[in-house]
Amino acid sequence: MRREHPSPAPVLSPASRPAGRAGADDATAVAHPNIALVKYWGKRDERLVLPVTSSLSMTLDILPTTTRVRLVAGAGRDEATLNGVSATGETHRRITAFLQLVRERAGDGRRAVVDSTNTVPTGAGLASSASGFAALAVAAAAAYGLDPGTTALSRLARRGSGSASRSLFGGFAVWHAGHDTATGTVTGTGTGTAEEAEAEEAADLGSYAEPVPAAAGMDPALVVAVVDAGPKTVSSREAMRRTVSTSPLYLPWADSSTRDLADMRTALRAGDLDAVGEIAERNALGMHATMLAARPAVRYLSPATVTVLDTVLGLRREGIGAYATMDAGPNVKILCRRTDAPRVAQALRAGAVRGSVLVAGPGPGARLLGGER
Ligand code: PMV
Repeated sequence: MRREHPSPAPVLSPASRPAGRAGADDATAVAHPNIALVKYWGKRDERLVLPVTSSLSMTLDILPTTTRVRLVAGAGRDEATLNGVSATGETHRRITAFLQLVRERAGDGRRAVVDSTNTVPTGAGLASSASGFAALAVAAAAAYGLDPGTTALSRLARRGSGSASRSLFGGFAVWHAGHDTATGTVTGTGTGTAEEAEAEEAADLGSYAEPVPAAAGMDPALVVAVVDAGPKTVSSREAMRRTVSTSPLYLPWADSSTRDLADMRTALRAGDLDAVGEIAERNALGMHATMLAARPAVRYLSPATVTVLDTVLGLRREGIGAYATMDAGPNVKILCRRTDAPRVAQALRAGAVRGSVLVAGPGPGARLLGGER
């Protein structure tokens, strides 16, 4: 018998929202990271964070981010700490810009104190912007008294970091590019006419994430191989920009990614883990090919990454369904059946991986916490 796989956690539902918390001034939310199986790579509008292509991910059940937002009357600026360390520079700017969006919607100019805690092992090298902005979106919306529903929260989280739109949901989620997909151009200026504003609003409305049904029998795991915990040399934002504007391979990849997404949905519905893995691996390798062809090239993959890819091929030769995906860094996430995860983790530890090897399953959507204030 087939069941839907796992149901997305409701966000700001009456059950999860502490009674009388609308405009609570103080709210805490938790969100988990997600790993894309069909990648988001390239924006068509930088300001609105509208992607060129739709993407699809699995939310993990490890490494959650917990974020508390408290409104402070009379404060002149937002304050933020990440794992107890004061946010400065670009990190502070992104958080403030995000809170400003929420303030405009809420019609409430109060500044906020944000405290965010990641359970990522120190320097694990795993992107935390997806869980970070998903948790911030849910907590900030509640603190400022907005109750927009999960779809609108997903659009809001997108403005912080594109991949965060998907972390609102548990299990598998698709993030719709919305209108004007695959143009490959970066268009948003934010300074145009009324018609342009209307078009922007329509584009914004069209780009959100939602859960994707998958057969329950698949029982997937993602084994995370941390080969290098260092900070990336080129931000994903800059790497995307460079790829979209200079890589001759970008548009062909964007086209094939649209087909990958359709195939991925079919494979998930069928519970065909090997098909899911094959599509995920080809999509990720194609994404890295677009970057290698950018001018100047962006190369996140290191010799250790390639050694892990060889280990994955070796596992497949042994008959184990193991498939690799990589994001904006050298670390590799290996999709396999949960029953095979210990064997995959062991092969990685015996081979190139000196850093941590973590095993994740499908995790829950972002949610507001109650009662700890
Ligand atoms: O959300 P961002 O801006 O950190 O971009 C993430 C892009 C990838 O992780 C490489 C792919 C994806 O879809 O998550």
